[in-house]
Amino acid sequence: MSLNAAVLRESLELVAQREPLITKRFYEILFDRYPQVQPLFSRNAPERQQKMLQDAIVAVVEHVEDSEWLKQNLTAIGSKHVDYGVTPEMYGWVGASLLATLAEIAGPAWTAEVEKAWTDAYGAISGLMIEGAKAS
Ligand code: HEM
Repeated sequence: MSLNAAVLRESLELVAQREPLITKRFYEILFDRYPQVQPLFSRNAPERQQKMLQDAIVAVVEHVEDSEWLKQNLTAIGSKHVDYGVTPEMYGWVGASLLATLAEIAGPAWTAEVEKAWTDAYGAISGLMIEGAKAS
Protein backbone atom coordinates (compact mmCIF):
# COMPACT_ATOMS: atom_id res chain seq x y z
CA MET A 1 0.00 0.00 0.00
CA SER A 2 1.60 3.27 -1.00
CA LEU A 3 0.14 6.06 1.07
CA ASN A 4 1.50 9.53 1.59
CA ALA A 5 2.49 9.09 5.25
CA ALA A 6 4.32 12.41 5.59
CA VAL A 7 1.38 14.43 4.30
CA LEU A 8 -1.11 12.50 6.47
CA ARG A 9 0.95 12.99 9.64
CA GLU A 10 1.51 16.66 9.05
CA SER A 11 -2.13 17.30 8.28
CA LEU A 12 -3.40 15.27 11.27
CA GLU A 13 -1.07 17.21 13.56
CA LEU A 14 -2.29 20.54 12.26
CA VAL A 15 -5.96 19.57 12.51
CA ALA A 16 -5.54 18.05 16.00
CA GLN A 17 -3.84 21.22 17.25
CA ARG A 18 -6.76 23.31 16.12
CA GLU A 19 -9.46 20.90 17.23
CA PRO A 20 -8.32 18.27 19.73
CA LEU A 21 -11.61 16.40 19.41
CA ILE A 22 -11.87 16.10 15.64
CA THR A 23 -14.36 13.32 16.04
CA LYS A 24 -16.88 15.45 17.98
CA ARG A 25 -17.31 17.59 14.87
CA PHE A 26 -17.20 14.44 12.72
CA TYR A 27 -20.24 12.93 14.48
CA GLU A 28 -22.15 16.20 14.14
CA ILE A 29 -21.56 16.17 10.37
CA LEU A 30 -22.25 12.42 10.04
CA PHE A 31 -25.54 12.53 11.98
CA ASP A 32 -26.64 15.69 10.18
CA ARG A 33 -26.04 14.16 6.74
CA TYR A 34 -26.96 10.56 7.53
CA PRO A 35 -29.35 10.54 10.51
CA GLN A 36 -30.17 6.91 9.77
CA VAL A 37 -26.82 5.78 11.28
CA GLN A 38 -27.34 7.51 14.64
CA PRO A 39 -29.26 4.59 16.26
CA LEU A 40 -26.24 2.31 15.65
CA PHE A 41 -24.19 4.34 18.12
CA SER A 42 -26.06 3.36 21.26
CA ARG A 43 -23.61 1.22 23.24
CA ASN A 44 -21.30 3.92 24.52
CA ALA A 45 -21.54 7.54 25.64
CA PRO A 46 -20.69 9.99 22.82
CA GLU A 47 -17.50 11.12 24.62
CA ARG A 48 -16.25 7.53 24.75
CA GLN A 49 -17.06 6.92 21.08
CA GLN A 50 -15.30 10.14 20.10
CA LYS A 51 -12.20 9.10 22.00
CA MET A 52 -12.22 5.57 20.48
CA LEU A 53 -12.48 6.87 16.94
CA GLN A 54 -9.87 9.58 17.52
CA ASP A 55 -7.46 6.98 18.95
CA ALA A 56 -8.16 4.69 15.98
CA ILE A 57 -7.38 7.44 13.46
CA VAL A 58 -4.15 8.33 15.26
CA ALA A 59 -3.10 4.64 15.47
CA VAL A 60 -3.79 4.06 11.79
CA VAL A 61 -1.83 7.15 10.74
CA GLU A 62 1.07 6.03 12.99
CA HIS A 63 1.11 2.63 11.29
CA VAL A 64 0.35 3.79 7.79
CA GLU A 65 3.59 2.34 6.45
CA ASP A 66 3.14 -0.98 8.28
CA SER A 67 0.89 -2.93 5.93
CA GLU A 68 0.93 -6.05 8.13
CA TRP A 69 -0.32 -4.08 11.18
CA LEU A 70 -3.00 -2.40 9.06
CA LYS A 71 -4.20 -5.67 7.59
CA GLN A 72 -4.39 -7.50 10.93
CA ASN A 73 -6.02 -4.72 12.91
CA LEU A 74 -8.37 -3.32 10.30
CA THR A 75 -9.77 -6.65 9.16
CA ALA A 76 -10.46 -7.47 12.85
CA ILE A 77 -12.19 -4.11 13.46
CA GLY A 78 -14.15 -4.52 10.22
CA SER A 79 -15.43 -7.86 11.37
CA LYS A 80 -16.60 -6.34 14.70
CA HIS A 81 -18.43 -3.63 12.76
CA VAL A 82 -20.76 -6.23 11.25
CA ASP A 83 -22.09 -6.82 14.79
CA TYR A 84 -22.65 -3.08 15.18
CA GLY A 85 -24.96 -3.19 12.13
CA VAL A 86 -22.52 -1.45 9.76
CA THR A 87 -23.01 -2.20 6.03
CA PRO A 88 -20.42 -1.62 3.25
CA GLU A 89 -22.36 1.36 1.88
CA MET A 90 -21.96 3.18 5.21
CA TYR A 91 -18.19 3.32 4.72
CA GLY A 92 -18.74 5.85 1.94
CA TRP A 93 -20.90 8.01 4.23
CA VAL A 94 -18.35 7.92 7.04
CA GLY A 95 -15.49 8.68 4.61
CA ALA A 96 -17.27 11.69 3.13
CA SER A 97 -18.12 13.02 6.61
CA LEU A 98 -14.58 12.47 7.90
CA LEU A 99 -13.00 14.25 4.93
CA ALA A 100 -15.50 17.12 5.25
CA THR A 101 -14.54 17.45 8.94
CA LEU A 102 -10.81 17.50 8.24
CA ALA A 103 -11.27 19.99 5.37
CA GLU A 104 -13.36 22.29 7.56
CA ILE A 105 -10.81 22.32 10.40
CA ALA A 106 -7.76 22.56 8.09
CA GLY A 107 -9.19 25.49 6.13
CA PRO A 108 -6.71 26.76 3.52
CA ALA A 109 -4.24 24.01 4.53
CA TRP A 110 -6.63 21.53 2.87
CA THR A 111 -4.79 21.39 -0.46
CA ALA A 112 -5.40 19.00 -3.36
CA GLU A 113 -2.38 16.95 -2.20
CA VAL A 114 -3.72 16.64 1.35
CA GLU A 115 -7.17 15.73 0.07
CA LYS A 116 -5.71 13.01 -2.15
CA ALA A 117 -3.60 11.61 0.72
CA TRP A 118 -6.71 11.28 2.95
CA THR A 119 -8.92 9.94 0.14
CA ASP A 120 -6.35 7.24 -0.67
CA ALA A 121 -5.82 6.41 3.02
CA TYR A 122 -9.54 6.16 3.80
CA GLY A 123 -10.05 4.02 0.67
CA ALA A 124 -7.32 1.61 1.82
CA ILE A 125 -8.59 1.55 5.44
CA SER A 126 -12.21 0.96 4.54
CA GLY A 127 -11.19 -1.63 1.93
CA LEU A 128 -9.44 -3.68 4.64
CA MET A 129 -12.34 -3.26 7.07
CA ILE A 130 -14.87 -4.40 4.45
CA GLU A 131 -12.60 -7.36 3.63
CA GLY A 132 -12.67 -8.30 7.32
CA ALA A 133 -16.44 -7.86 7.39
CA LYS A 134 -16.92 -10.19 4.42
CA ALA A 135 -14.65 -12.85 5.89
CA SER A 136 -16.52 -12.91 9.21
C1 HEM B 1 -12.15 4.26 8.92
C2 HEM B 1 -13.15 3.50 9.26
C3 HEM B 1 -13.52 3.21 10.68
C4 HEM B 1 -12.71 3.08 11.79
C5 HEM B 1 -11.18 3.20 11.86
C6 HEM B 1 -13.59 2.78 12.91
C7 HEM B 1 -13.15 2.57 14.20
C8 HEM B 1 -13.95 2.18 15.25
C9 HEM B 1 -13.48 1.81 16.55
C10 HEM B 1 -12.01 1.76 16.98
C11 HEM B 1 -14.55 1.48 17.31
C12 HEM B 1 -14.50 1.02 18.77
C13 HEM B 1 -14.90 -0.41 18.96
C14 HEM B 1 -14.09 -1.40 18.21
O1 HEM B 1 -12.86 -1.51 18.40
O2 HEM B 1 -14.70 -2.14 17.39
C15 HEM B 1 -15.72 1.66 16.48
C16 HEM B 1 -17.02 1.45 16.88
C17 HEM B 1 -18.13 1.67 16.08
N1 HEM B 1 -18.13 2.08 14.77
FE1 HEM B 1 -16.52 2.42 13.64
N2 HEM B 1 -14.89 2.72 12.48
C18 HEM B 1 -14.89 2.99 11.12
C19 HEM B 1 -15.97 3.02 10.29
C20 HEM B 1 -17.28 2.94 10.70
C21 HEM B 1 -18.42 3.06 9.83
C22 HEM B 1 -18.38 3.20 8.32
C23 HEM B 1 -19.53 2.97 10.62
C24 HEM B 1 -20.94 3.09 10.14
C25 HEM B 1 -21.80 3.95 10.59
C26 HEM B 1 -19.07 2.76 12.00
C27 HEM B 1 -19.86 2.59 13.11
C28 HEM B 1 -19.43 2.20 14.34
C29 HEM B 1 -20.33 1.82 15.44
C30 HEM B 1 -21.85 1.81 15.37
C31 HEM B 1 -19.51 1.50 16.53
C32 HEM B 1 -19.96 1.04 17.91
C33 HEM B 1 -20.26 2.24 18.72
C34 HEM B 1 -20.73 1.88 20.09
O3 HEM B 1 -20.08 1.00 20.69
O4 HEM B 1 -21.68 2.52 20.54
N3 HEM B 1 -17.69 2.76 12.00
N4 HEM B 1 -15.33 2.11 15.23
